[in-house]
Amino acid sequence: VWHSTPFAPPDAIFALTAGYQQDSFDKKVNLGVGAYRDNDGKPFVLPVVRKAKQILASDDSLDHEYLPIAGLPSFVKATSKLIFGADSPAIKENRVVTIQTISGTGANHYGGAFLSRFYEPWLGKSKEEKIIYLSNPTWANHKSIFNSTGLTAADYPYYDPKTIGLDLVAFLDFLRKAPKQSVFLLHACAHNPTGVDPTRDQWKEIAQIFKEKEHFAFFDCAYQGFASGDLDNDAWAVRHFVEEAIPLLVCQSFAKNAGLYGERIGALNIVASHAGDSEGGADRIRSQLLILQRQEISNPPTFGARIVGLILSDEAMFEQWKGDIKTMAHRIIDMRKQLHELLVNKYKTPAPGPNGWEHVINQIGMFTFTGLNPDQCKAMVERGHIYMTSNGRISMAGLNEHNVEWVAECIDKAIRP
Ligand code: LMR
Repeated sequence: VWHSTPFAPPDAIFALTAGYQQDSFDKKVNLGVGAYRDNDGKPFVLPVVRKAKQILASDDSLDHEYLPIAGLPSFVKATSKLIFGADSPAIKENRVVTIQTISGTGANHYGGAFLSRFYEPWLGKSKEEKIIYLSNPTWANHKSIFNSTGLTAADYPYYDPKTIGLDLVAFLDFLRKAPKQSVFLLHACAHNPTGVDPTRDQWKEIAQIFKEKEHFAFFDCAYQGFASGDLDNDAWAVRHFVEEAIPLLVCQSFAKNAGLYGERIGALNIVASHAGDSEGGADRIRSQLLILQRQEISNPPTFGARIVGLILSDEAMFEQWKGDIKTMAHRIIDMRKQLHELLVNKYKTPAPGPNGWEHVINQIGMFTFTGLNPDQCKAMVERGHIYMTSNGRISMAGLNEHNVEWVAECIDKAIRP
Protein backbone atom coordinates (compact mmCIF):
# COMPACT_ATOMS: atom_id res chain seq x y z
CA VAL A 1 0.00 0.00 0.00
CA TRP A 2 3.00 2.36 0.06
CA HIS A 3 4.24 1.84 -3.50
CA SER A 4 3.41 5.36 -4.58
CA THR A 5 5.20 7.02 -1.64
CA PRO A 6 7.93 9.17 -3.19
CA PHE A 7 11.28 9.66 -1.53
CA ALA A 8 11.61 13.06 0.14
CA PRO A 9 15.01 14.76 0.45
CA PRO A 10 16.40 15.22 3.98
CA ASP A 11 15.87 18.61 5.65
CA ALA A 12 18.56 20.97 4.32
CA ILE A 13 19.47 22.43 7.72
CA PHE A 14 19.33 19.33 9.92
CA ALA A 15 21.16 17.22 7.31
CA LEU A 16 24.14 19.54 7.87
CA THR A 17 24.12 18.82 11.61
CA ALA A 18 24.01 15.08 10.87
CA GLY A 19 26.93 15.43 8.40
CA TYR A 20 28.91 17.45 10.94
CA GLN A 21 28.36 14.87 13.66
CA GLN A 22 29.66 12.06 11.44
CA ASP A 23 32.73 14.02 10.30
CA SER A 24 35.96 13.02 12.09
CA PHE A 25 38.05 15.98 10.85
CA ASP A 26 39.47 17.84 13.85
CA LYS A 27 38.86 21.35 12.53
CA LYS A 28 35.24 20.75 11.44
CA VAL A 29 32.81 23.61 12.14
CA ASN A 30 29.01 23.63 12.16
CA LEU A 31 27.70 26.96 10.84
CA GLY A 32 24.48 25.36 9.58
CA VAL A 33 21.72 25.33 12.16
CA GLY A 34 20.82 28.57 13.93
CA ALA A 35 21.63 27.44 17.46
CA TYR A 36 23.78 29.45 19.86
CA ARG A 37 27.10 27.98 21.01
CA ASP A 38 29.52 29.35 23.60
CA ASN A 39 33.14 30.28 22.88
CA ASP A 40 34.09 26.59 23.16
CA GLY A 41 31.46 25.55 20.62
CA LYS A 42 29.26 24.02 23.34
CA PRO A 43 25.47 24.39 23.67
CA PHE A 44 24.68 27.14 26.16
CA VAL A 45 22.21 26.68 29.00
CA LEU A 46 21.36 30.23 30.04
CA PRO A 47 22.23 30.87 33.73
CA VAL A 48 18.69 32.19 34.27
CA VAL A 49 17.28 28.96 32.82
CA ARG A 50 19.44 26.91 35.21
CA LYS A 51 18.05 28.94 38.07
CA ALA A 52 14.46 28.50 36.90
CA LYS A 53 14.98 24.74 36.62
CA GLN A 54 16.29 24.59 40.19
CA ILE A 55 13.26 26.47 41.45
CA LEU A 56 10.92 24.16 39.54
CA ALA A 57 12.77 21.05 40.74
CA SER A 58 12.27 22.01 44.37
CA ASP A 59 8.59 22.89 43.98
CA ASP A 60 6.67 19.86 45.25
CA SER A 61 3.34 21.39 44.32
CA LEU A 62 4.00 20.92 40.59
CA ASP A 63 2.25 17.94 39.07
CA HIS A 64 1.93 16.48 35.58
CA GLU A 65 -1.73 17.30 34.95
CA TYR A 66 -2.90 18.68 31.60
CA LEU A 67 -2.46 22.38 31.03
CA PRO A 68 -5.47 24.40 29.88
CA ILE A 69 -5.84 24.12 26.09
CA ALA A 70 -4.56 27.70 25.62
CA GLY A 71 -1.43 26.91 27.64
CA LEU A 72 0.06 27.81 31.02
CA PRO A 73 -1.86 30.97 32.05
CA SER A 74 1.14 32.78 33.58
CA PHE A 75 3.19 32.12 30.41
CA VAL A 76 0.40 33.10 28.04
CA LYS A 77 -0.21 36.40 29.80
CA ALA A 78 3.47 37.33 30.04
CA THR A 79 4.51 36.35 26.53
CA SER A 80 2.09 38.74 24.86
CA LYS A 81 3.38 41.60 27.05
CA LEU A 82 6.92 40.74 26.02
CA ILE A 83 6.19 41.30 22.35
CA PHE A 84 3.55 44.06 22.45
CA GLY A 85 4.83 45.91 25.55
CA ALA A 86 2.97 46.09 28.87
CA ASP A 87 1.46 49.45 27.86
CA SER A 88 0.23 48.25 24.51
CA PRO A 89 -3.24 49.58 23.69
CA ALA A 90 -4.12 46.16 22.26
CA ILE A 91 -3.34 44.46 25.59
CA LYS A 92 -5.06 47.12 27.69
CA GLU A 93 -8.17 46.84 25.54
CA ASN A 94 -8.16 43.01 25.79
CA ARG A 95 -7.81 42.65 22.04
CA VAL A 96 -4.85 40.25 22.06
CA VAL A 97 -5.58 36.54 21.79
CA THR A 98 -2.62 34.35 22.75
CA ILE A 99 -2.11 30.60 22.82
CA GLN A 100 0.95 28.58 23.73
CA THR A 101 2.41 26.71 20.74
CA ILE A 102 5.04 24.15 19.82
CA SER A 103 7.68 26.85 19.42
CA GLY A 104 7.70 29.20 16.43
CA THR A 105 7.02 26.39 13.98
CA GLY A 106 3.76 25.53 15.75
CA ALA A 107 2.80 29.20 15.83
CA ASN A 108 3.44 29.58 12.09
CA HIS A 109 1.44 26.45 11.44
CA TYR A 110 -1.57 27.65 13.47
CA GLY A 111 -1.28 31.11 11.96
CA GLY A 112 -1.50 29.61 8.47
CA ALA A 113 -4.31 27.23 9.42
CA PHE A 114 -6.29 29.98 11.14
CA LEU A 115 -6.03 32.34 8.18
CA SER A 116 -6.95 29.53 5.83
CA ARG A 117 -10.16 28.90 7.78
CA PHE A 118 -11.19 32.38 8.86
CA TYR A 119 -9.43 35.22 6.99
CA GLU A 120 -12.48 36.96 5.55
CA PRO A 121 -11.03 38.01 2.18
CA TRP A 122 -10.28 34.31 1.58
CA LEU A 123 -13.68 32.86 2.42
CA GLY A 124 -14.80 30.55 -0.39
CA LYS A 125 -11.41 30.79 -2.10
CA SER A 126 -9.32 27.86 -3.37
CA LYS A 127 -5.84 26.96 -2.06
CA GLU A 128 -4.29 28.62 -5.14
CA GLU A 129 -6.05 31.88 -4.29
CA LYS A 130 -4.99 31.89 -0.62
CA ILE A 131 -1.54 33.33 -1.17
CA ILE A 132 0.89 34.11 1.61
CA TYR A 133 3.80 36.20 0.38
CA LEU A 134 7.21 35.29 1.82
CA SER A 135 10.41 37.31 1.58
CA ASN A 136 12.83 36.02 -1.02
CA PRO A 137 14.73 34.37 0.61
CA THR A 138 13.17 33.22 3.87
CA TRP A 139 13.57 30.51 6.51
CA ALA A 140 13.78 27.19 4.65
CA ASN A 141 10.76 25.77 6.48
CA HIS A 142 8.24 28.58 5.88
CA LYS A 143 7.13 27.47 2.45
CA SER A 144 6.48 23.92 3.45
CA ILE A 145 4.61 24.91 6.64
CA PHE A 146 2.21 27.14 4.72
CA ASN A 147 1.74 24.75 1.86
CA SER A 148 0.71 22.15 4.43
CA THR A 149 -1.93 24.44 5.97
CA GLY A 150 -3.95 24.99 2.82
CA LEU A 151 -2.16 28.15 1.64
CA THR A 152 -0.02 28.83 -1.40
CA ALA A 153 3.38 30.34 -0.71
CA ALA A 154 4.74 32.94 -3.14
CA ASP A 155 7.79 35.22 -3.00
CA TYR A 156 8.09 38.97 -2.54
CA PRO A 157 11.36 40.74 -3.38
CA TYR A 158 13.43 41.52 -0.29
CA TYR A 159 17.13 40.86 -0.67
CA ASP A 160 19.37 42.27 -3.38
CA PRO A 161 22.33 39.94 -4.08
CA LYS A 162 24.11 42.78 -5.88
CA THR A 163 24.32 44.97 -2.77
CA ILE A 164 24.02 42.13 -0.23
CA GLY A 165 21.36 44.36 1.36
CA LEU A 166 17.65 45.19 1.34
CA ASP A 167 15.96 45.81 -2.01
CA LEU A 168 13.60 48.39 -0.52
CA VAL A 169 12.41 49.85 -3.82
CA ALA A 170 11.35 46.48 -5.22
CA PHE A 171 9.79 45.47 -1.88
CA LEU A 172 7.70 48.65 -1.57
CA ASP A 173 6.69 48.46 -5.21
CA PHE A 174 5.51 44.88 -4.73
CA LEU A 175 3.49 45.86 -1.66
CA ARG A 176 1.83 48.65 -3.63
CA LYS A 177 0.96 46.45 -6.59
CA ALA A 178 -0.27 43.42 -4.61
CA PRO A 179 -4.06 43.01 -4.45
CA LYS A 180 -5.71 44.71 -1.46
CA GLN A 181 -5.76 42.69 1.79
CA SER A 182 -2.88 40.47 0.71
CA VAL A 183 -1.09 38.50 3.43
CA PHE A 184 2.65 39.11 3.91
CA LEU A 185 4.97 37.28 6.26
CA LEU A 186 7.42 39.70 7.86
CA HIS A 187 10.41 38.77 10.01
CA ALA A 188 9.95 40.96 13.09
CA CYS A 189 13.73 41.31 13.56
CA ALA A 190 17.00 39.53 12.71
CA HIS A 191 15.83 38.31 9.31
CA ASN A 192 16.57 34.64 8.68
CA PRO A 193 18.58 33.86 6.54
CA THR A 194 19.93 37.25 5.40
CA GLY A 195 20.51 39.20 8.64
CA VAL A 196 19.17 42.21 6.69
CA ASP A 197 16.47 44.19 8.55
CA PRO A 198 14.68 47.37 7.49
CA THR A 199 15.59 50.47 9.51
CA ARG A 200 12.87 52.16 11.58
CA ASP A 201 12.24 54.69 8.82
CA GLN A 202 11.95 51.90 6.28
CA TRP A 203 9.53 50.02 8.56
CA LYS A 204 7.42 53.19 8.69
CA GLU A 205 7.23 53.29 4.90
CA ILE A 206 6.34 49.60 4.82
CA ALA A 207 3.64 50.09 7.45
CA GLN A 208 2.19 53.04 5.55
CA ILE A 209 1.58 50.87 2.49
CA PHE A 210 0.12 48.06 4.63
CA LYS A 211 -2.34 50.61 5.94
CA GLU A 212 -3.27 51.99 2.55
CA LYS A 213 -3.66 48.56 0.98
CA GLU A 214 -5.20 46.93 4.08
CA HIS A 215 -2.62 44.16 3.88
CA PHE A 216 -2.37 41.61 6.69
CA ALA A 217 0.97 41.39 8.54
CA PHE A 218 1.96 37.89 9.57
CA PHE A 219 4.94 38.55 11.87
CA ASP A 220 7.37 35.77 12.64
CA CYS A 221 9.44 36.74 15.69
CA ALA A 222 11.97 33.98 16.36
CA TYR A 223 14.89 36.16 17.46
CA GLN A 224 13.58 38.84 19.84
CA GLY A 225 16.68 40.10 21.67
CA PHE A 226 19.15 38.75 19.14
CA ALA A 227 19.05 41.69 16.73
CA SER A 228 20.08 44.47 19.11
CA GLY A 229 20.57 42.66 22.41
CA ASP A 230 17.46 44.51 23.67
CA LEU A 231 14.01 42.91 23.84
CA ASP A 232 12.04 46.15 23.46
CA ASN A 233 14.11 47.46 20.55
CA ASP A 234 13.60 44.22 18.69
CA ALA A 235 9.82 44.44 19.12
CA TRP A 236 9.69 47.93 17.63
CA ALA A 237 8.33 46.98 14.19
CA VAL A 238 5.53 44.87 15.66
CA ARG A 239 4.57 47.64 18.10
CA HIS A 240 4.60 50.22 15.34
CA PHE A 241 2.21 48.12 13.23
CA VAL A 242 -0.09 47.73 16.28
CA GLU A 243 -0.09 51.51 16.79
CA GLU A 244 -0.99 51.94 13.14
CA ALA A 245 -3.95 49.54 13.61
CA ILE A 246 -2.74 47.21 10.86
CA PRO A 247 -4.37 43.77 11.10
CA LEU A 248 -1.73 41.31 12.28
CA LEU A 249 -0.63 38.24 14.14
CA VAL A 250 2.72 37.46 15.76
CA CYS A 251 4.47 34.10 16.13
CA GLN A 252 6.94 33.89 19.01
CA SER A 253 9.68 31.39 19.76
CA PHE A 254 11.81 30.98 22.90
CA ALA A 255 14.16 28.53 21.19
CA LYS A 256 16.89 31.07 20.56
CA ASN A 257 16.48 33.87 23.10
CA ALA A 258 16.01 31.47 26.03
CA GLY A 259 18.09 28.66 24.50
CA LEU A 260 15.11 26.31 24.89
CA TYR A 261 15.42 24.72 21.43
CA GLY A 262 14.27 21.23 22.36
CA GLU A 263 11.53 22.31 24.77
CA ARG A 264 9.43 23.66 21.90
CA ILE A 265 8.01 26.70 23.64
CA GLY A 266 6.40 29.54 21.72
CA ALA A 267 3.14 31.39 21.21
CA LEU A 268 0.73 32.68 18.61
CA ASN A 269 -0.79 36.13 19.20
CA ILE A 270 -3.65 37.45 17.10
CA VAL A 271 -4.72 41.06 17.54
CA ALA A 272 -8.48 41.58 17.18
CA SER A 273 -10.15 44.89 16.43
CA HIS A 274 -12.09 44.74 19.70
CA ALA A 275 -12.62 42.69 22.85
CA GLY A 276 -15.60 40.45 23.55
CA ASP A 277 -17.60 37.92 21.61
CA SER A 278 -19.41 40.10 19.09
CA GLU A 279 -18.51 39.76 15.39
CA GLY A 280 -14.73 40.09 14.92
CA GLY A 281 -14.19 40.10 18.70
CA ALA A 282 -11.21 38.57 20.50
CA ASP A 283 -13.31 35.93 22.27
CA ARG A 284 -14.55 34.48 18.99
CA ILE A 285 -10.99 34.25 17.69
CA ARG A 286 -9.85 32.61 20.94
CA SER A 287 -12.66 30.05 20.77
CA GLN A 288 -11.51 28.94 17.32
CA LEU A 289 -7.83 28.83 18.25
CA LEU A 290 -8.76 26.52 21.11
CA ILE A 291 -10.46 24.17 18.65
CA LEU A 292 -7.37 24.21 16.44
CA GLN A 293 -5.07 23.45 19.38
CA ARG A 294 -7.31 20.63 20.62
CA GLN A 295 -7.38 19.03 17.17
CA GLU A 296 -3.66 19.20 16.68
CA ILE A 297 -1.97 18.62 20.04
CA SER A 298 -4.82 18.61 22.55
CA ASN A 299 -2.90 20.51 25.25
CA PRO A 300 0.56 22.07 25.11
CA PRO A 301 3.54 20.73 27.10
CA THR A 302 4.43 22.10 30.53
CA PHE A 303 8.19 22.24 31.04
CA GLY A 304 9.27 25.05 28.71
CA ALA A 305 6.19 27.08 29.60
CA ARG A 306 6.99 26.83 33.31
CA ILE A 307 10.57 27.97 32.73
CA VAL A 308 9.67 30.94 30.54
CA GLY A 309 6.60 31.78 32.66
CA LEU A 310 8.84 32.04 35.72
CA ILE A 311 11.49 34.15 34.00
CA LEU A 312 8.93 36.55 32.58
CA SER A 313 6.98 37.03 35.79
CA ASP A 314 9.85 37.42 38.29
CA GLU A 315 11.48 40.84 38.10
CA ALA A 316 14.98 39.70 39.18
CA MET A 317 14.96 36.74 36.83
CA PHE A 318 13.72 38.89 33.97
CA GLU A 319 16.67 41.25 34.51
CA GLN A 320 19.05 38.30 34.61
CA TRP A 321 17.58 36.98 31.35
CA LYS A 322 18.18 40.34 29.67
CA GLY A 323 21.83 40.05 30.75
CA ASP A 324 22.08 36.51 29.36
CA ILE A 325 20.66 37.69 26.04
CA LYS A 326 23.23 40.48 25.92
CA THR A 327 26.00 37.92 26.55
CA MET A 328 24.86 35.92 23.50
CA ALA A 329 24.18 38.91 21.24
CA HIS A 330 27.51 40.57 22.08
CA ARG A 331 29.57 37.42 21.56
CA ILE A 332 28.04 37.18 18.09
CA ILE A 333 28.87 40.84 17.39
CA ASP A 334 32.46 40.14 18.49
CA MET A 335 32.68 37.23 16.07
CA ARG A 336 31.39 39.49 13.28
CA LYS A 337 34.25 41.90 14.01
CA GLN A 338 36.87 39.16 14.14
CA LEU A 339 35.75 37.49 10.92
CA HIS A 340 35.61 40.86 9.17
CA GLU A 341 39.09 41.79 10.39
CA LEU A 342 40.59 38.50 9.20
CA LEU A 343 38.98 38.67 5.74
CA VAL A 344 39.87 42.31 5.19
CA ASN A 345 43.27 42.68 6.81
CA LYS A 346 44.82 39.25 7.12
CA TYR A 347 43.63 37.45 3.97
CA LYS A 348 42.64 40.49 1.88
CA THR A 349 39.93 38.29 0.44
CA PRO A 350 38.10 39.66 -2.63
CA ALA A 351 34.57 40.50 -1.50
CA PRO A 352 31.46 39.20 -3.27
CA GLY A 353 29.62 42.57 -3.09
CA PRO A 354 30.33 46.26 -3.79
CA ASN A 355 30.84 47.25 -0.15
CA GLY A 356 33.71 44.95 0.69
CA TRP A 357 33.01 42.73 3.68
CA GLU A 358 30.98 45.40 5.51
CA HIS A 359 27.90 43.17 5.43
CA VAL A 360 29.58 40.77 7.88
CA ILE A 361 29.49 43.59 10.43
CA ASN A 362 26.30 45.30 9.34
CA GLN A 363 23.97 42.30 9.17
CA ILE A 364 21.90 41.64 12.24
CA GLY A 365 21.18 38.67 14.49
CA MET A 366 22.38 35.11 14.33
CA PHE A 367 23.11 34.88 10.61
CA THR A 368 25.38 36.37 7.99
CA PHE A 369 24.48 36.00 4.37
CA THR A 370 28.05 35.83 3.14
CA GLY A 371 27.41 36.32 -0.58
CA LEU A 372 29.20 33.02 -1.35
CA ASN A 373 27.69 31.24 -4.35
CA PRO A 374 26.55 27.58 -4.22
CA ASP A 375 29.87 26.26 -5.62
CA GLN A 376 31.83 28.22 -3.05
CA CYS A 377 29.53 26.94 -0.28
CA LYS A 378 30.12 23.41 -1.52
CA ALA A 379 33.87 23.97 -1.36
CA MET A 380 33.50 25.19 2.23
CA VAL A 381 31.78 21.95 3.21
CA GLU A 382 33.87 19.55 1.12
CA ARG A 383 37.32 21.07 1.53
CA GLY A 384 37.04 22.96 4.79
CA HIS A 385 34.60 20.67 6.66
CA ILE A 386 32.67 23.85 7.41
CA TYR A 387 28.98 23.00 7.35
CA MET A 388 26.80 25.80 5.94
CA THR A 389 23.66 26.03 3.81
CA SER A 390 24.11 26.31 0.04
CA ASN A 391 22.50 29.80 -0.02
CA GLY A 392 25.61 31.27 1.61
CA ARG A 393 24.15 31.63 5.10
CA ILE A 394 26.43 31.04 8.08
CA SER A 395 25.30 30.91 11.67
CA MET A 396 27.58 33.36 13.48
CA ALA A 397 26.73 31.58 16.72
CA GLY A 398 28.84 28.62 15.56
CA LEU A 399 31.96 30.78 15.30
CA ASN A 400 34.35 31.17 18.22
CA GLU A 401 37.89 32.32 18.93
CA HIS A 402 39.24 28.83 18.24
CA ASN A 403 37.70 28.35 14.79
CA VAL A 404 37.22 31.82 13.27
CA GLU A 405 40.70 31.82 11.74
CA TRP A 406 40.06 28.50 10.00
CA VAL A 407 36.69 29.71 8.72
CA ALA A 408 38.23 32.91 7.33
CA GLU A 409 41.02 30.93 5.65
CA CYS A 410 38.48 28.60 4.04
CA ILE A 411 36.30 31.49 2.84
CA ASP A 412 39.41 33.00 1.30
CA LYS A 413 40.32 29.75 -0.44
CA ALA A 414 36.73 29.16 -1.63
CA ILE A 415 36.49 32.64 -3.15
CA ARG A 416 39.81 32.81 -4.97
CA PRO A 417 39.61 31.14 -8.38
C1 LMR B 1 17.56 27.73 11.46
O1 LMR B 1 17.08 28.45 10.58
O2 LMR B 1 18.69 27.21 11.38
C2 LMR B 1 16.78 27.48 12.71
O3 LMR B 1 15.61 28.22 12.71
C3 LMR B 1 16.58 26.04 13.00
C4 LMR B 1 15.53 25.43 12.14
O4 LMR B 1 14.56 24.90 12.71
O5 LMR B 1 15.65 25.45 10.92
